[in-house]
Amino acid sequence: MKVTAGITAVNGYLPEYRLTNQVLETMVDTNDAWITERTGIKERRILTGKDQGLSVMAIEAVKGLLKKRGIGPEEIDLMIVASVTPDRVFPATANIVCDAIGAKNAWGFDLGAACSGFLFALTTGAQFIESGKHRKVVVVGGDKMSSIVDYEDRATCIIFGDGCGAVLLEPNEEGLGIRDSILRSDGSGCQFLHQKAGGSWHQTSERTVESKEHYIYQEGKAVFKFAVTNMADVSAEIMEKNGLTADDVAWLVPHQANKRIIDATANRMGLDAGKVMVNIEKYGNTTSGTLPLCLWEWEPRLKKGDNIILSAFGGGFTWGAVWLKWAYDGTHAG
Ligand code: UT7
Repeated sequence: MKVTAGITAVNGYLPEYRLTNQVLETMVDTNDAWITERTGIKERRILTGKDQGLSVMAIEAVKGLLKKRGIGPEEIDLMIVASVTPDRVFPATANIVCDAIGAKNAWGFDLGAACSGFLFALTTGAQFIESGKHRKVVVVGGDKMSSIVDYEDRATCIIFGDGCGAVLLEPNEEGLGIRDSILRSDGSGCQFLHQKAGGSWHQTSERTVESKEHYIYQEGKAVFKFAVTNMADVSAEIMEKNGLTADDVAWLVPHQANKRIIDATANRMGLDAGKVMVNIEKYGNTTSGTLPLCLWEWEPRLKKGDNIILSAFGGGFTWGAVWLKWAYDGTHAG
């Protein structure tokens, strides 16, 4: 039988500090009622302290992941870290994480696809398992969005939070694991959602800092329109392509950007709210972190063989959906 890439463990890390809507009310001209109604968010976690980068969260998430699966770091073949807020432009945060945990036999790289980063990384990692090249691939999705959020911009600072999740991929011969994916990108969407400066195009200067070009720029309404249509379309498309009905789908794991986008996607798929993972009220939009953090939170309720659809839309534009069959019951495999 064809080898598939099964998720055999999932773990997450959330910083302790809770930035509530009430605290945001004291920082910008906003209010709890508006944020709750327009986004569904009540609070988000923020990684505080000096010199605390994405790797701080990723290291904890991966250490816990290996512990759950009962394997050592030297067994990891490949580490992919999906993020738009890596520790540094280079070297890759994957390298920092591998070094910190003692993954001496692994190679690794970072992958940037904004809110679709985890889906892109999951699909990439699965290829190495399916081809037989590797037996243990760690896929991390996480972001320290607070490092690029302008806390004077009420339209963006209310949405984002920090957090990180990780999964382990291993070969499966029962047809469980990643079964299909539809991934898309469209660079013409760049104008609506980007971080202007800091790369090779607009190099860092006093001017770029003064004009706040290192923060997220988002035209919320435009992004919302694209997100609603594309995330719903691609989720329906992957079901249709694989002959899955709403009854066949156990769970939708949607990117947590806005509760209204999540609801539109679930409606389009014909799913009841009870089959939709939603934790946006607690964590906001952690960009690459939302999907693995949902899987981690819902893990005790997942059953071997469950059909799960993950879907996301984000900056780039990037979007996509993955269909997977969950590989174990309860809180750990094997
Ligand atoms: O994850 C990556 C992809 N990103 C997304 O999917 C985000 C998609 N976009 C959104 O989720 C929504 O567009 C936002 C939550 C960002 C904004 O919600 P919206 O309903 O689209 O609001 P809007 O930008 O159209 O603004 C409506 C009004 C404006 O006031 P006027 O011009 O009508 O007087 C804004 O100035 O709401 C005002 N506003 C706020 N009011 C209170 C904007 N932000 C706030 C705020 N508090 N925080």
